[in-house]
Amino acid sequence: MAAYEYETHEFDVVVVGAGGAGLRATLGMAEQGLRTACVTKVFPTRSHTVAAQGGIAASLGNMGPDSWQWHMYDTVKGSDWLGDTDAMEYLAREAPKAVYELEHYGVPFSRTEEGKIYQRPFGGHTTQYGEGPPVQRTCAAADRTGHAILHTLYGQSLKNNAEFYIEYFAIDLIMSEDGSCQGVLAWKLDDGTLHLFNAKMTVLATGGYGRAYFSATSAHTCTGDGGGMVARQGLPLQDMEFVQFHPTGIYGAGCLITEGARGEGGYLTNSEGERFMERYAPTYKDLASRDVVSRCMTMEIREGRGVGENGDHIHLHLNHLPPETLHLRLPGISESARIFAGVDLNKEPIPVLPTVHYNMGGIPTNYWGEVLNPTAESPDAIAPGLMAVGEAGCASVHGANRLGSNSLIDLVVFGRAAAIKAAEVVDPKAANPRINMASVEKALDRFDGLRHAKGAIGTAELRLEMQKTMQADAAVFRTDKTLAEGCVKMDAVAGKMDDIAVTDRSLVWNSDLMETLELTNLMPNALATIHAAEARKESRGAHAHEDYPDRDDENWRKHSLCYVNGEVTLDYRPVHLNPLMGHNEGGIDLAKIAPKARVY
Ligand code: FUM
Repeated sequence: MAAYEYETHEFDVVVVGAGGAGLRATLGMAEQGLRTACVTKVFPTRSHTVAAQGGIAASLGNMGPDSWQWHMYDTVKGSDWLGDTDAMEYLAREAPKAVYELEHYGVPFSRTEEGKIYQRPFGGHTTQYGEGPPVQRTCAAADRTGHAILHTLYGQSLKNNAEFYIEYFAIDLIMSEDGSCQGVLAWKLDDGTLHLFNAKMTVLATGGYGRAYFSATSAHTCTGDGGGMVARQGLPLQDMEFVQFHPTGIYGAGCLITEGARGEGGYLTNSEGERFMERYAPTYKDLASRDVVSRCMTMEIREGRGVGENGDHIHLHLNHLPPETLHLRLPGISESARIFAGVDLNKEPIPVLPTVHYNMGGIPTNYWGEVLNPTAESPDAIAPGLMAVGEAGCASVHGANRLGSNSLIDLVVFGRAAAIKAAEVVDPKAANPRINMASVEKALDRFDGLRHAKGAIGTAELRLEMQKTMQADAAVFRTDKTLAEGCVKMDAVAGKMDDIAVTDRSLVWNSDLMETLELTNLMPNALATIHAAEARKESRGAHAHEDYPDRDDENWRKHSLCYVNGEVTLDYRPVHLNPLMGHNEGGIDLAKIAPKARVY
């Protein structure tokens, strides 16, 4: 065993990650009197939620008629009928409550003339079960909504005495012999000490794994750490083949230009100056859902109607909007466009390209955030002591495609749900678990092995190889050939982890070692993505398979499970089809959400 000293901390709950979901869970746990630690590799207000721009979906009806049932319908359709019905109902029903809570905590939302929360249109959000005009459902704080939420939740968590362990990198989960989670081992980056967090409940809120790809709107810290830790314990990842490309990443830089831009009246054009979305989605046009818009842009470019010297991107126009609107509603992207594209929004269009933005898949959970360890007999069996929320988790509320602004609401609704459940299952008076030392030793050995890795390939080099492979072979459009080749290439790339080289052996601010640990987390996420995509012989949501262009509900309306621990194996579990509330109790009419062709 590698000889390291570590300090032990006992808590009722340890939350790993301090983005929107992690902070909402931390706050909820602390408010209920649970002793709660939040362990985070970046300062809380630098978590990736800070970059969320356009807003948070909730059927407040401040700007016109709306209902949670319409929101649920849009989410079901957006998911291309792969989301779990109970989770989608929970999200849509709880959303208004969760947003008003944020308002009362102090989130500085933009306001209407009457002082209500301002709401803007977003892609795929409609009225009358998709039969009416677009709805204004996305609550916004200008185009800095994530920033506003994150700062508020951090302040409230401190006020409620949550304890923060900032710039601590979670190395591995500590598991009992019978598969219960007992906490996490972490490395304090600024002084090199190690820390064992012994907890009755561990909540993974580690975000997505966008950085498995070459071009992503995600922060460089989005390395799928929770998914990596879970995979190493032999637990599955779910629906990983569904990777969302946001239609409007800035060409070249990849930075996000919010969908709120199109919500405020922006539109896309090709090299002929044509507003091509009118052809593909005659009703909702530029406000069709993201997977649809990204595919249409890609088709325009492929068919020779891309803009620019190489005809390889598309234009987003906002220059027709009044300067006051841009200033009031979209100040952040005005700045991003200037800095990253050299464009003055008032005068010129922004060059944009579909860019990896969000992972629909993740650690499978129920709608309380409890992590699942499915078996054939019990597809909903839980892994005791372990929860996952936010982009790290897969509830599954977004299915095969997430609607814009359903991410921020997912963070707060399910962060809050995890806290409600934890208050039921965690006994503050009970003793903490007796730590399984074999699990600690295994984690220390892995850490030590990477710290002293003497192979031939540098971390940055191998990471780039992975990113380029994923970008080329698990892209907006996929074929049997690209996916099969991608699996072979990714298996070879992952195999090179055994030959990794770490050159810095110190323990203090060792970014070489930290990036290597991150790469060990990115790798299983990337492998699960490409293998699950190769296996799914249909097109659904963000998985656009050119050899199987149609959705196949008979054979493929099921969640994929991917185990990546040594080798990659696949399994499946059923989609939840039952709502929580009957129609005669005010719940949704199931006939309204029955599968049908998905057109916008
Ligand atoms: O376009 C955006 O503002 C992104 C929102 C989201 O991903 O939910």
